[in-house]
Amino acid sequence: MAMRSRVEVMHGVNLDQLGRRDPTHYGTLTLDELESRITEAARELELEVGFFHTNHEGEFVEHLHRLADMADAIVLNPGAWTHYSYAIRDALELTRLPAIEVHLSDVDAREAWRRHSVIADLCLARIAGKGSDGYRDALERLQEELDG
Ligand code: DQA
Repeated sequence: MAMRSRVEVMHGVNLDQLGRRDPTHYGTLTLDELESRITEAARELELEVGFFHTNHEGEFVEHLHRLADMADAIVLNPGAWTHYSYAIRDALELTRLPAIEVHLSDVDAREAWRRHSVIADLCLARIAGKGSDGYRDALERLQEELDG
């Protein structure tokens, strides 16, 4: 049987607070519930999925350092780091893995500073404003990329 591709899903700062954050932007799912939905989508797509969350930028960077040997692709929602962390950008570039940037909320329809992403040009796509469905879309897109 062919080996399943492994996608690492990385959640950044404050995403462990889902369920307590503004539901108009982030919905009501907790991080555990979001991960269950992603696991279910991955199972349907026959992908292996791993999860990582931290509120510490250096830990996020070090996990990216490890990923080249651990995963075939990345889905990442770095939270607010998306908008300014050149450290995360550099570490993502080092992985050389196909990646998709996901945001639960519609970042383009919020404050101006949320429209800017320092990782967008390293990613195959940016999916925002679709809640948990955005993660499923990202897995589908990566599966096409890995199969192609
Ligand atoms: C977010 C959007 C960011 O602007 C914000 O700082 C977050 C979450 C999202 O998923 O919509 O923490 O990445």
